[in-house]
Amino acid sequence: MNDVFAGKHLVLGLSGGVACYKSAMLCRLLVQAGATVQVVMTEAAEQFMTAVTMQALSGRAVYTSQWDVREPNNMPHINLSRDADAILIAPCSADFIARLVQGRSDELLSLLCLARPLERVPLLLAPAMNREMWAHPATQRNLAQVQADGALVLGVGNGSQACGETGDGRMLEPEEIMEELAAHFTAKRLQGQHLLVTAGPTFEAIDPVRGITNLSSGKMGFAIARAAREAGAQVTLVAGPVHLPTPRGVTRIDVQSARQMQAAVQSQLAEASIFIATAAVADWRPAEAADRKIKKDGSGEVPAMAFVENPDILAAVAGSEPARSGKLYCVGFAAESHDLLKHASAKRLRKGVPLLVGNIGPATFGKDYNALLLIDAGGSKELPHASKDVLARQLVEEIAQRLAPGHL
Ligand code: C5P
Repeated sequence: MNDVFAGKHLVLGLSGGVACYKSAMLCRLLVQAGATVQVVMTEAAEQFMTAVTMQALSGRAVYTSQWDVREPNNMPHINLSRDADAILIAPCSADFIARLVQGRSDELLSLLCLARPLERVPLLLAPAMNREMWAHPATQRNLAQVQADGALVLGVGNGSQACGETGDGRMLEPEEIMEELAAHFTAKRLQGQHLLVTAGPTFEAIDPVRGITNLSSGKMGFAIARAAREAGAQVTLVAGPVHLPTPRGVTRIDVQSARQMQAAVQSQLAEASIFIATAAVADWRPAEAADRKIKKDGSGEVPAMAFVENPDILAAVAGSEPARSGKLYCVGFAAESHDLLKHASAKRLRKGVPLLVGNIGPATFGKDYNALLLIDAGGSKELPHASKDVLARQLVEEIAQRLAPGHL
């Protein structure tokens, strides 16, 4: 199972900042994802969040002092830093960054950062501060120095701040930090690749307020975009109308109709080395979309509606020169209701793609879990029931294997 956080042990360090409230959620997400989390808090952090909360969420006693007598050797800074797969400081205050730069060690959290084995315990920082503090030359100088000393700075968000000002310096949201952490722990199997992926339904207008669409949620395509970016690919996501946040580091192009989706895909194709079509593109669209709302006139008559077929985006891309010459690797999806192997195998040949991913439509639309059947020239392989995030990581690995030099 390709579950990036399973079995990982993280030290989550909280320094002083109002963003501590987000770290409670972050801790919960990490534990839910299968990590063990050892929370360490500075005295300033305890002004914003109690150790009791963090203990309840992490399921482990929180450390706040280097004089903690619970440790038989009285060396929590050594004991806590040796087993960690990473130390994450979130929130990381301006003061804490300055302390790291100076190699200060007069309280437990900075002490254990200094005591960590540099070559095997990475230090990740999620800064949080007022925008003026963030922009100050002292902070920027310190950030450059901690990075030169080997820390990984996850960046900050932009927006309204607790102080009432607006700008850079907000701590990343817990979900964003999870994505950054996942990327950190993921082997860069798609480094150098540019992935273009379609996701979600399309919406084919009947008039300005009505249209034809379907129940695709876009979750699988978004998970693939996220997993590919974690694996080092540059990712462009062409999304139909869905209510999903853009995965971090992914370029998103929003479209409505199949023809808009096709135009967006065409505009990006020259850059792409992998194309994955997960979108549930409407097969047909109304031949004419009315400019004005079609009114019910009370006569009981229903409007006649003619349909035309939409372009098959995947088949067109798979038939293009870059795909035929092997420069562009194409992956199609098939949502079937029965006889998955038979129908998906036939679809692979019909679409002309090297890899086709089958799934059962009613079991996947709108769901967080799915199961996939991979079909290529060599045969088929099942990726059993799992979350779409896990399946997306597995699929990325399968694609990376097929792109590896020497793969037949
Ligand atoms: O023909 P069908 O819709 O079953 O094929 C599914 C596959 O083709 C999916 O990968 C889907 O994204 C893609 N497709 C497309 N353009 C269409 C119809 C399907 O790219 N018009």
